[in-house]
Amino acid sequence: MIEKIVHHPEKVTLEEIAWILANDELNEQLFAVADEVRRKYLGKEVYLRGIIEFSNYCRNDCLYCGIRSSNKNVKRYRMSVEEIVERARLIAQMGIKTVVLQSGEDPYYTREMIGEMVTRIKKFNVAITLSVGEREFDEYAYWKELGADRYLMRHETADEELYRKLHPNDSFENRKAHLLKLKQLGYETGAGSMVGLPGQDDFSLAKDVLFVYQLDADMVGIGPFIPHPDTPLAECKAGELTKTLKLIALTRLFLPDANIPATTALGTIHPFGRQLALKCGANVIMPNFTPSPYRAQYALYPNKICIFENDVACGECTKNLVRSVGYEVSEDFGYRRKAHERT
Ligand code: 5AD
Ligand code: FES
Repeated sequence: MIEKIVHHPEKVTLEEIAWILANDELNEQLFAVADEVRRKYLGKEVYLRGIIEFSNYCRNDCLYCGIRSSNKNVKRYRMSVEEIVERARLIAQMGIKTVVLQSGEDPYYTREMIGEMVTRIKKFNVAITLSVGEREFDEYAYWKELGADRYLMRHETADEELYRKLHPNDSFENRKAHLLKLKQLGYETGAGSMVGLPGQDDFSLAKDVLFVYQLDADMVGIGPFIPHPDTPLAECKAGELTKTLKLIALTRLFLPDANIPATTALGTIHPFGRQLALKCGANVIMPNFTPSPYRAQYALYPNKICIFENDVACGECTKNLVRSVGYEVSEDFGYRRKAHERT
């Protein structure tokens, strides 16, 4: 079955993926083959992406998210363009070649403001990833022209019914249209999902795998759902480590050359979550460069790691983490290496 995914992913069915997810006897083989595929296509290199979470204002009300608009316990903040650009400079000075600009869906930042960030940060010779949620299509185009390279917008779940329940003002179909638009505009496009959402089963997760494969996502962020106490899902269970690792490994088999992060959420539910992810398919890590006191206030989920660190410590820490599991810190920009054929 695992061989089939490696050689004929186009023939694999939803049922087959769901079966692998439901049964644990193939796990070791799955993880080993995912690491093999990763080494073959990407070597031992890991790309670092410095992330700045520049605003926790959000107009959306996603049921799982700690910064949802109806959570009144959040202390909201917005960084100025000046502050953001200075933080990006710091990332570049540390030799990190990608700056990720992330925020809640915050219309306060106009197309011109984000454009100014892109123009000024581009001068530091870094790749820029935007992750500011759903915006107008002409805004995506404008930022692309100014030099933005990539866009992250997880699809969250490819189970349409579950998507509807979790997102009061959005549909999966609409999210998909945005991702397709981003691809069409030439962005390296990142999708991805959470594992262990309430009501999600192995078929839903199998849909996530097939969705990113069919989209040919350039990047795929996968992390466990972690219940936030100030949300309607407070009493739900968190996603599991093993299931999340299986999803990462399967995604690596379907997209051998995609960029897949070892996510902070995985590092939050297990002390070695990110290390384990790097060993079964992940090839990216995203050190947090959000300055304090804002960092702690960007709480999408509780107990997020790196909150109490010095606010530039994650750069060195992630480099050490990568080396500790036998991989190398890449000095490249880390664009997707398109594999033109499978072997
Ligand atoms: N647990 C885990 N991940 C979450 N995200 C948002 N809320 C949570 C949560 N409670 C993820 C979403 C979003 C990304 C930035 O963080 O997938 O796209
Ligand atoms: Fe942030 Fe280790 S990655 S302290």
